[in-house]
Amino acid sequence: MANWHPTVDENELSEDTPQAVTVEGESIVLCKVKDQVTAFINSCPHAGLPLDSGDVTDGVLTCPFHGYTFNVCTGKNTTFETDPALKQFPVRIVDGKVEVQVEE
Ligand code: FES
Repeated sequence: MANWHPTVDENELSEDTPQAVTVEGESIVLCKVKDQVTAFINSCPHAGLPLDSGDVTDGVLTCPFHGYTFNVCTGKNTTFETDPALKQFPVRIVDGKVEVQVEE
């Protein structure tokens, strides 16, 4: 069953800085681009390292370890386009709070 879980206030997010949150034991990285917030598993598919210390530039999230890049709206790998996209979680904003939908 999937439920919505409140995380941080939307105004705590900045466009160039991913932020890690933990929901139901799952590490998730939140990204903000313009007025959109997205949520992905905080684990790079290359070596499983966390993405939240990377940066976001021009809508691209760059892994800080070996430079894989991902579309911050879709999670699609833009370094190796045939690789699978990052697992993405649904996001909604409720009273200024970012909520993420996670399976329990
Ligand atoms: S762990 Fe992300 S590119 Fe290697």
